[in-house]
Amino acid sequence: MHNTILITGGTGYIGSHTAVELMLQGHRVVIMDNLCNSSAQVLGRLRQLCGDRFDFVQADVRNAAALDAVFTSYPIDGVIHFAGLKAVGESVAQPLRYFDNNLGSTTALLLAMAKAGVHRLVFSSSATVYGDPDQVPITEQARLQVTSPYGRTKLVCEEILRDLMAAGAHWQIAILRYFNPVGAHPSGLIGEAPNGVPNNLMPYIAQVAVGQREYLSIFGQDYPTPDGTGVRDYIHVVDLAQGHLAALDYLAREGQSITVNLGTGRGISVREMMETFSRVNHVHIAHRYTDRRPGDVAACWADTTLARERLGWQAQLGVERMCEDTWRWQSRNPRGYSDSA
Ligand code: NAD
Ligand code: UFG
Repeated sequence: MHNTILITGGTGYIGSHTAVELMLQGHRVVIMDNLCNSSAQVLGRLRQLCGDRFDFVQADVRNAAALDAVFTSYPIDGVIHFAGLKAVGESVAQPLRYFDNNLGSTTALLLAMAKAGVHRLVFSSSATVYGDPDQVPITEQARLQVTSPYGRTKLVCEEILRDLMAAGAHWQIAILRYFNPVGAHPSGLIGEAPNGVPNNLMPYIAQVAVGQREYLSIFGQDYPTPDGTGVRDYIHVVDLAQGHLAALDYLAREGQSITVNLGTGRGISVREMMETFSRVNHVHIAHRYTDRRPGDVAACWADTTLARERLGWQAQLGVERMCEDTWRWQSRNPRGYSDSA
């Protein structure tokens, strides 16, 4: 069945890829974004990929009137809530901004949904809610603990959603805990375009490869991991996007809520990622080993059993595709969306 899905934060990195997968499956999409961390150029790219199967509303999700207008103008069947600020370091420096934006947008959205009688929601959470895990792979039952204001916004939003689930069976909510999203759409038309110096590994590698950064700093080589560098569960953004469709299907089919990890279940080290990027794309990645980055954990990867069993979803794309697709995007759009007309 074809639905109309509201995507908050839909011009952002994960939201834009999810919009494409939804539209390719025949759904209509309404994107609501205030463009605080994304470019309006994304809209032209989405049109190139999917035609006119979407509408765009430029507004802040904390704006109740704008939300009400969306719910009265469109027959929304479900919502995917990506909108939020996501930089861990920035959240330490500006905690109030993070609480205001991430908690405020979530409560405003939930109020508008309740008012409109729309109770189906997919929420972007993060493996950050597991903090420094006691063991890997991490199951959904692992202890929750956070180490940054950003992480706290995700945990508090999850708790708000659990309170709603407890209050009324009519809410159908999927809390998706993403591990490390990387890669880009294979068309090379959309991808990750961070502002300023990237915090994350993959965009940093890509910017070194394209000549925008001199070298990659590898943060620590003395972790208790096979090659001493940090290990993460990197997941291709197209797989992640498809996980959202599987979650929406689950909610419609089962009529009940779920909290689930979205990862590949495989840990990749910083060195392995850098070497794979270099090998498959035939580019040199200049690098230096530096001290550990404060707050980093040694290793973090997902137990993906629940996603496989309940959503019938598992990641298909391996580390080579993550590197190839990142490079196609980066080499064709060296300065992200600012190059495009
Ligand atoms: P992104 O910054 O590319 O996208 C977020 C979008 O939300 C941006 O387009 C931004 O303009 C918009 N936005 C932010 N606040 C808004 C507001 N108040 N009103 C309207 N629009 C607003 O980030 P992303 O990587 O696509 O992440 C999407 C979601 O997934 C976020 O909630 C993030 O916390 C979560 N997440 C991301 C990662 C990751 O590594 N990328 C990992 C785990 C969870
Ligand atoms: N790393 C480097 N050099 C860099 C950047 C990263 O060596 O320039 C290393 C890190 O030390 C880590 C690995 O690459 O070992 C991955 O780092 P990222 O910053 O890409 O990702 P993190 O796992 O640290 O952070 C991500 C999200 C956060 C989220 C966190 C926990 O970006 O939002 O996962 O889920 F909070």
